[in-house]
Amino acid sequence: MKLFVRKNVKYILVMLALVIISVTVHLNLNIFNERFAMQLRMFPLFQKAHPILEANRSETKFTVLLWTPWYGSTKLATSGYFRPNECANEYVVISNKSLLHQADAVIFQYVDLRSMGLTDLPTTRNQSVPWILALQESPINLGTLKSNVVDGLFDFTWSMRSDSEIHPEFVEMFEKYEEPDRKWIYGSNFSYQFISNKTKIAAWVVSAGCSTSPSKRDALAAELATHGVPIDIYGRCGPLNCAQGESCFERLGQKYLFYMAFENSLCVDYITEKPSHGWFHNMVPVIYALGKKETFAPPNSYIDALEFETVEKLAAYLKFLDENPKEYFKYFEWRSVYNLTSSVHSSYHCQIFRKIKKVTETLRGTNSSLHYGRRNKYGKLSQWFFSFYNSALKMQCQNCLKPSEVNVTHLNQNKLNVFNRSSRCI
Ligand SMILES: *[C@@H]1O[C@H](CO)[C@@H](O)[C@H](O)[C@H]1NC(C)=O
Ligand SMILES: *[C@@H]1O[C@H](CO)[C@@H](O)[C@H](O)[C@H]1NC(C)=O
Ligand SMILES: *[C@@H]1O[C@H](CO)[C@@H](O)[C@H](O)[C@H]1NC(C)=O
Ligand SMILES: *[C@@H]1O[C@H](CO)[C@@H](O)[C@H](O)[C@H]1NC(C)=O
Ligand SMILES: *[C@@H]1O[C@H](CO)[C@@H](O)[C@H](O)[C@H]1NC(C)=O
Ligand SMILES: *[C@@H]1O[C@H](CO)[C@@H](O)[C@H](O)[C@H]1NC(C)=O
Ligand SMILES: *[C@@H]1O[C@H](CO)[C@@H](O)[C@H](O)[C@H]1NC(C)=O
Ligand SMILES: *[C@@H]1O[C@H](CO)[C@@H](O)[C@H](O)[C@H]1NC(C)=O
Ligand SMILES: *[C@@H]1O[C@H](CO)[C@@H](O)[C@H](O)[C@H]1NC(C)=O
Repeated sequence: MKLFVRKNVKYILVMLALVIISVTVHLNLNIFNERFAMQLRMFPLFQKAHPILEANRSETKFTVLLWTPWYGSTKLATSGYFRPNECANEYVVISNKSLLHQADAVIFQYVDLRSMGLTDLPTTRNQSVPWILALQESPINLGTLKSNVVDGLFDFTWSMRSDSEIHPEFVEMFEKYEEPDRKWIYGSNFSYQFISNKTKIAAWVVSAGCSTSPSKRDALAAELATHGVPIDIYGRCGPLNCAQGESCFERLGQKYLFYMAFENSLCVDYITEKPSHGWFHNMVPVIYALGKKETFAPPNSYIDALEFETVEKLAAYLKFLDENPKEYFKYFEWRSVYNLTSSVHSSYHCQIFRKIKKVTETLRGTNSSLHYGRRNKYGKLSQWFFSFYNSALKMQCQNCLKPSEVNVTHLNQNKLNVFNRSSRCI
């Protein structure tokens, strides 16, 4: 709550960023293909948001070198979201490897580094210039990180993990109004019309990992259907088609009560932009993820599937909300207080670059920056990424549930399995 109530400050939903990063790219990495292609279609507006700018090197601007492509794209440094207008006077992103000596920080995207065999690394290293490893996917989808390559090599990481120095924070998406917007209080004409427009229950747009997601989200959808909440599945994984681009969600939002924000992996801290489809388009997101929602979203702005004891109880609750408009509309009352801003992508990247600059200054401040990565937790980066410090158990434990460990009928069992089961500890 504290995070997003700061008055008059724009907050951004960071996960959107991942979408945004992905939208500009050409994909050649099998497992990500579908997902990014999908997102590319979903966010046509974002693609236009930043004109292609010429890279101007500057002595005063903080310079970030993208050493690898980004999910196959080599154009990101010169176009798209890594060139946000909003902080163009603060940062320069370059991708020309010959300009390594000009960089203040160097970023490596793990999936691209891997596709090049993990061998394409700079041959010289300035100890004042951090190497940052970007790990955007869930650990379970990335597979084992080669310890002999990654351990001790990087100074910082950029990932979903909250203990990454550069990690998405679901901020900046919610902006507090000076005056409450009373149409979002139940009883307004708007609220009645809003609800009477909604003639359908649950929508889900999904095009990748249709039956192979480690979170078994397809099985969850099937379970909900058997308990009386059929889900209309749009995209390549379902029978329904949706218009390309934002207008897809816009149309869904007119009719549907709920949007299924089901992540493909159940891993500690892992949550992506999916709930924002609900927030931006007037549906209540039903979140299936272990990422922390309470740190970024207003209270009563989503339903957390993993809080329910059984899928039956979740289904019953969704049906209850369908039948009780006043209760349902409580999930929108936060909007009388918070405006949703749509300026997400560029602000997000500005925020990321500011963090990169900050961690760089931290590194330089440590004086003996030599081989910083060997001394911090990334000395064992390959282990770090697959485990977390479980403060309840006071042990290092695995941070992702394997498909065989996921329980789609007893939903809160999944939290217990991750947080309270010492057999999963290392
Ligand atoms: C780059 O520098 C040129 C010449 O100073 C200027 O005209 C141009 O607008 C600059 N481009 C950007 C993106 O700052
Ligand atoms: C990269 O930088 C070098 C050195 O400034 C320059 O000679 C080369 O043309 C640049 N390459 C590209 C693709 O811009
Ligand atoms: C290393 O980087 C720092 C900070 O950018 C810079 O001041 C210094 O000149 C660089 N050293 C070499 C040898 O390039
Ligand atoms: C609500 O609708 C009624 C009937 O159309 C109208 O008389 C009333 O002024 C409206 N109230 C508000 C607050 O707009
Ligand atoms: C309800 O649906 C009508 C027709 O599609 C639309 O014009 C109107 O804006 C909708 N109202 C609300 C509050 O969603
Ligand atoms: C709400 O946010 C939108 C998009 O940023 C903006 O256009 C609008 O003026 C804001 N409304 C208020 C009342 O602040
Ligand atoms: C920095 O490191 C040098 C050499 O190890 C040491 O002599 C010096 O006291 C250190 N300075 C600070 C501020 O820690
Ligand atoms: C799910 O959890 C329930 C309650 O602990 C248990 O009875 C059931 O066997 C579990 N199902 C699976 C597939 O693990
Ligand atoms: C795990 O166990 C602790 C201590 O026994 C308890 O406080 C906590 O609520 C449990 N966590 C879950 C998710 O049930």
